[in-house]
Amino acid sequence: MNTRETVKTVLVTGGAGYIGSHTCVELLQQGYEVVVVDNLVNAQQESLNRVAKIAGKAPVFLRVDLLDEVALDAVFSQYSIDAVIHFAALKAVGESVAKPLAYYHNNMTGTLNLFRVMAQHQVFQLVYSSSATVYGDSNPIPYREDMPLASTSPYGRSKVMAEQIMMDLSAADERWNIASLRYFNPVGAHPSGLIGEDPTGIPNNLMPYISQVAVGRREHLSIYGNDYMTADGTGVRDYIHVVDLANGHLQALQLLARKHQRFSAYNLGAGKGFSVLDVVKAFEKACGQSIPYKFEPRRAGDIGEFYADASKAATELDWRAARSLDSMCADTWNWQSKNPSGYGQV
Ligand code: NAD
Ligand code: WQD
Repeated sequence: MNTRETVKTVLVTGGAGYIGSHTCVELLQQGYEVVVVDNLVNAQQESLNRVAKIAGKAPVFLRVDLLDEVALDAVFSQYSIDAVIHFAALKAVGESVAKPLAYYHNNMTGTLNLFRVMAQHQVFQLVYSSSATVYGDSNPIPYREDMPLASTSPYGRSKVMAEQIMMDLSAADERWNIASLRYFNPVGAHPSGLIGEDPTGIPNNLMPYISQVAVGRREHLSIYGNDYMTADGTGVRDYIHVVDLANGHLQALQLLARKHQRFSAYNLGAGKGFSVLDVVKAFEKACGQSIPYKFEPRRAGDIGEFYADASKAATELDWRAARSLDSMCADTWNWQSKNPSGYGQV
């Protein structure tokens, strides 16, 4: 069995992206060797220069597309990989509805290539980026890991399918040891202000949209729906600071190193919900200005309210969300105000 000491080199797919870059910082700071593969379809290499600045040590960066199985195989031949954290995926829900083939090809073929190459190289320790979207729209809240999985978009279904594939793999071959982490709503940025979320085009998600309004890139926030069955009528979500989330991956690696469990899923959320108006108010406090907003009709496919039952991660991973909504907003604002155009302005 692997111990913490034997897991030294971690391959991070999608490590130049938002959650991946924050996880690389924590890995490097904890003494892991980090090899990033990313095709930069939704990231800039500058994020990894910043990671190196924060951690005082650079990850290895290889511009590799997971769809290129030969190139991926060469990475595993060149480096002695002990464990993989698999972030690489396309993640825009609306775009996945418009371009299902592109999403299934990238997310499923990329994942199958990775799993095949891992098995060929006898690497069976895997931490997977799943999502609360796997709970679909019919489960009662709070969401628990043993609830049935379903999803309402091609993006979401690619996560459900990947989880099914991992369950089948671990049933067929006991050497697999997999933690699937179901993220709720990741927001925030590293407190240094050097790395953060840098969406391409118009942001789909609430926090980056608010921060672009605050920095003057967008005129006002559209709030989608004020007639939900929630305290103030706006949508309620379980926001999770990206640094807490990154640390969840280190806890998962450590769990895999001490316990062989084949496959297990964990909710990474704070276990409580905040409304859109709660987030707007907290952001106004963080940035010291008001955020103009207009109520608009509900967004297609949205659910009124969901949040995690986060008790399994607390018990088995010894992980809890520690950072408050105020610090999520303060860190987002610190990043956005220091980098008004994201990594574009270097
Ligand atoms: P991101 O887009 O910032 O990062 C994903 C990275 O993967 C990008 O750097 C992109 O260039 C890379 N990538 C995509 N396809 C690739 C391919 N074929 N080969 C190599 N690299 C490829 O997204 P993120 O927010 O950091 O999300 C990371 C993971 O977490 C994704 O799997 C996403 O589905 C999942 N997730 C994200 C959220 C969220 O709200 N951000 C919530 C739940 C789950
Ligand atoms: C949060 C709340 C909106 C934008 C999505 C994906 C999910 C996961 C995380 C990957 C909702 C409201 C938003 C805006 C608004 N990703 N809102 N105005 O929809 O919970 O989850 O990202 O797995 O799969 O679906 O996050 O940030 O888009 O929305 O009023 O401009 O903010 O209606 O209530 P969501 P979000």
